[in-house]
Parts: sequence; C-alpha cells; structure tokens
Amino acid sequence: MATTDLYAVMGNPINHSKSPQIHTQFAEQTKQDLVYSAMLVPVDGFNSAVRDFFKGSGRGLNITVPFKEDAFAYVDQLSERAQTAKAVNTLIRQADGSVMGDNTDGAGIVRDLTVNLKVALKGRRVLILGAGGAVRGVLKPVLDEQPTEVVIANRTFEKARALADDFAQFGAIRAQRFEDLSDSFDVIINGTSASLQGDLPPISAQVIGSHTHVYDMMYGKEPTPFMQWAKQHGAAAAYDGLGMLVEQAAESFYLWRGVRPDSVAVLNALRARLMAQ
Ligand code: ATR
Repeated sequence: MATTDLYAVMGNPINHSKSPQIHTQFAEQTKQDLVYSAMLVPVDGFNSAVRDFFKGSGRGLNITVPFKEDAFAYVDQLSERAQTAKAVNTLIRQADGSVMGDNTDGAGIVRDLTVNLKVALKGRRVLILGAGGAVRGVLKPVLDEQPTEVVIANRTFEKARALADDFAQFGAIRAQRFEDLSDSFDVIINGTSASLQGDLPPISAQVIGSHTHVYDMMYGKEPTPFMQWAKQHGAAAAYDGLGMLVEQAAESFYLWRGVRPDSVAVLNALRARLMAQ
C-alpha cells in the first residue's frame, strides 16, 4: 500500500514556525498528497533525527536555526547555491536513497523583491547590512541579478570584508564600515538580527533617498524598527521578509514535488492572519 509522503521542518525552537501552514496550503492548492509537520530537534541530535526521518516515509526537510550548517555537513550532495551559502535549508531524499542539500533562501528574497514587489536589482546599487549566515545565504543569488554593485556593511567590519572577499568571484561586491556609509542606495537589505532586539544598525540616514527601496529580512505584525526608520527618512517603500519566507518555501516545494504553488495567494492569506493576531 502506498504511504503518504512526509515532509517536515527541523529546528530549535520550532513552535513559531509558519512552514507547516505554508506547505499545507501549497499541497492543498496543487492537490499533492503529503503531510508536513514541525519537529523540535535537540541541539545535539540533528544527525540522528534526519537519519530516522529518511528511514521512514520522509521525502524532504526544511532546516532552520540552528541547524543549517549541520545540514550542510550532513548531505551526500550539494547544489551550487548551497555550496556558496555554506548552509542548507532544504533536504531532498533522492531515488537512490542519497540526500541532496540545497539552499532556497536567496531565490526566495530575489523572487519576492523582483517578481512580487517589482523591485529590480539589475543595474542598481545595493546595500546589504549584516554579515552572518542569513546574508551569506542570499549573496550569490543577489549578485546573479547583476546589480551595479553590492556594498556589504557590518557592525564587525572584518566579517563584512571576509564575505566580500569570498564572493568577489561572483560580481561587484565590496565591504564598508557602518560609519563610512554616506551616500544613498537604490535597494537596502537589512540582514542583521538587530530587529529581533528592537535595535537599529547604527548607520547614517544618508543611505536613504526618495528612490530607495528597503527590505528587512525580519517580519512581524508591525513594520520592523528598520522599516519605520527608513520611512521616516523618506524611503520610497519599505518591505518586511514575510514574502521571502513564503518564496523560499515555494522553491523548496518545487524541488520536492516538481510543481510551483501559487505563492502570492498563500502570502496574502498569511499576511491577513498575521494582522488579525
Ligand atoms: P543570522 O544567521 O541571522 O545571520 P548571525 O550569523 O548571528 O545570525 O548574524 C547576525 C548578524 O546581525 C551579524 O551581522 C551581526 O553583526 P556582528 O557580526 O557584528 O555580530 C548583526 N547584528 C546583530 N545584532 C545587531 C545590532 N544590534 N546592531 C547591528 N548589527 C547587529
């Protein structure tokens, strides 16, 4: 008897994950027979949890904090974008039983910006704030859009410089200190976790012009502190990262099932639910 294909997101903590509701809606839309759940994994128990999952009817996993680097180390094969990200957010069990690792975060933010929000990156000056895992995960797909240049700035400058060095082979990218940022950008992506503490990266408002579109990888019911700051200083528009969340999920779903869900319908439903909370 055929069993239902199982999918899950693994993380710690995991109780606030929206991935089960997103993927369940994708499956309903596209009439795919699958079950997607959230799994809390002990911090030292990642490998055995993945092994057990794939021993049964498990076909694919999403991986979130703090396991994206563990997933990178676990897999049998890596996609090119996972290789450059040095992190994996999607695992796919292949027909021969081996496990492939991919990273859909960068594709998610690029699609949300360029398709959903109609903010082009090609030929634009882009500022990226932060130099942690979240930024590393999206740099290659952002550079692939061929912006005029990407400036990467971080509280700890050395980390920005190391990232710029690593990614220089993929396009025009350089590092700058927060205190040296003094002219405006077309697109600013906040990839720091400052919003989590209600903080703002300490940068000059001169980075904002009336042509500037601001994107915060974080999201919430209210605009993030960074979005509010950008609007106060005259940015053309400010967006949060809910669309990135849905689009990285849609890309994972496509890898697993070979069908593209209607991500915008799911994003709209998720936004409505968030606002009603
Ligand atoms: P993630 O996986 O979310 O990227 P991370 O690897 O810990 O998490 O990186 C967090 C990023 O947010 C870093 O760039 C960090 O700056 P440092 O490298 O200087 O630590 C940045 N960050 C966190 N809190 C911040 C704050 N209050 N102001 C500015 N940058 C902050």
